[in-house]
Amino acid sequence: MPELGPNQSLIDIPGSRNALTTPALVLDLDAFERNLTTHAKLCGESGLRLRPHAKTHKCSEIAKRQIAAGAVGVCCATLHEATVMVEAGISGVLITSPVVGAAKVNRLVALNKKADKLKLVADNSINVSDLSDTAGRESTELDLLIDIDIGMQRTGVHAADEIVRLARLADDSPNLNYRGVQAYSGRVQHIEDYGSREKEYGEQLDHLQKCLDALADAQLKPSIITGGGTGTHAIDRSRKIFTEHQTGSYIFMDVEYNAVELVAGDTSPFATSLFMQCSVVSNNADGFVTIDGGYKCFATDGPKPEVSTDSLPGADYDRFGDEHGKIVIADQSQKPVIGTPVTLITPHCDPTINLHNYLHCVRGDKLVDIWAIDARGVL
Ligand SMILES: Cc1ncc(COP(=O)(O)O)c(C=O)c1O
Repeated sequence: MPELGPNQSLIDIPGSRNALTTPALVLDLDAFERNLTTHAKLCGESGLRLRPHAKTHKCSEIAKRQIAAGAVGVCCATLHEATVMVEAGISGVLITSPVVGAAKVNRLVALNKKADKLKLVADNSINVSDLSDTAGRESTELDLLIDIDIGMQRTGVHAADEIVRLARLADDSPNLNYRGVQAYSGRVQHIEDYGSREKEYGEQLDHLQKCLDALADAQLKPSIITGGGTGTHAIDRSRKIFTEHQTGSYIFMDVEYNAVELVAGDTSPFATSLFMQCSVVSNNADGFVTIDGGYKCFATDGPKPEVSTDSLPGADYDRFGDEHGKIVIADQSQKPVIGTPVTLITPHCDPTINLHNYLHCVRGDKLVDIWAIDARGVL
């Protein structure tokens, strides 16, 4: 049996959720499974294949469940994530960031030989030539998508004529199979108001459509058009440009995404399934207690974690150092004793996951399984 951390002996013991050694990432399996099936159904109804992004969870057990729910594979942000997923037997991995430099390209080509239907993106002609040459030397073929920048400017090519040129190079290169395009826009995902998001992202999709028309005119019609995230999935489903979707955070839902109006004028189709369980370690001060979750426990790029413990209504989290957080108590008569578990919604799930080794899977008050976050850490 693999080593699954200090809580392994609590699996299947009634009430074990409240006895976890903390801080511990907790996955509410009922909510997680509902998110999985809801999104699979929404994508299926729109004729959209799903290749969810594994950068969110970095966990091959979750990737397997996404595929069991109908996904055609998973996306990975890094070669390391892709390596872990391939070695866990996941097929249909798409690497969504350029793989650049001889060392990484060599590793990629070696991985491709072991993988089933591995794909990657590129946005540069030098990189395309490197990929083709290295694949040729190793007698293998790589499936390549051209990365289109529709407005974020992080990676990708923006101008339609340059996209056509790069797609032509990929299509003409020996040892490369031109499979299609990627167009992901990150910042718009978190525009909270649906109408404002739809307006800004809609203009980006108009540009994507022009690029697709130019590719079709050049006899380079992509068979895969991939992109989108949790914030744009409703817009992507109605615009029907993509053939497949890269949604990531929908499985967990964090504080950032809970503030986003995902569907116009309606409640979110997804519920929070990921929580951080911490414990009160000191309660001597007036007005607050100290818990064992600080900068090393929660991502600090976004909002603060939100307290979700029923017995602490109105309580607020404040950052309090590397290992500690401050829980400001609304009602002093409810000040918890040391050892009390405090549950919080994670601020931004992706970088929070990357700080932890294990997901503690619970049903109700019982720990029922522990999954390794096996692709965490190394970039
Ligand atoms: C390329 C790419 N695709 C998809 C996603 C998933 O987005 P989300 O977590 O907003 O669903 C991300 C997230 O950062 C991403 O970088």
